[in-house]
Amino acid sequence: MSASKQSQNETGAQLQKRLRQLAEEVVRPSFRWCCDDGDDFFDDFYATLSERAPGIGAMFAHVDMQEQNRLIRRGVEHLIDFAQGSAESAGELRRIARTHGRQGLNIAPELYSLWIDTLMETVRAHDPEADDNAEAAWRVVLRGGIDLIISLY
Ligand code: HEM
Repeated sequence: MSASKQSQNETGAQLQKRLRQLAEEVVRPSFRWCCDDGDDFFDDFYATLSERAPGIGAMFAHVDMQEQNRLIRRGVEHLIDFAQGSAESAGELRRIARTHGRQGLNIAPELYSLWIDTLMETVRAHDPEADDNAEAAWRVVLRGGIDLIISLY
């Protein structure tokens, strides 16, 4: 292997390691803190999301929101687990991509940045320790799983 290829591989491995660390040491504890508020965190999240984009509130009009809160909690955990290399979570995100894609709920790819921005705003409102650095960690950790969902639209 050439020296530059080897150094590229090392940089890639370091990035993966750092991503796993951020997921475990920053994002997971922050999310646990948010979930300690029971349904409050998710109720806030969906209320804000519905305000931000016309049409989203209507999509949830007939959804059992208590059950939805439980499912989205698992969903966010899958996004975090995916950043840590979980194959099971990759499979679950592919399934979510199908239910959210063109043939399903038909969630336009550009809505996902709104979804992340709203999640970040809600995290910052519920986790007193969530600062700019924590938000940056959240965003980089969620990115891969969200990109996977969007790529299967
Ligand atoms: C703006 C973006 C999004 C919108 C508008 C949206 C909308 C919805 C709606 C309307 C439902 C209820 C479906 C029903 O019961 O009829 C749902 C379910 C669900 N959503 Fe989303 N969603 C978005 C993004 C995401 C993301 C990024 C995830 C990733 C974790 C996710 C995970 C789930 C899960 C796990 C369910 C439960 C049903 C299933 O497993 O497919 N959603 N979503």
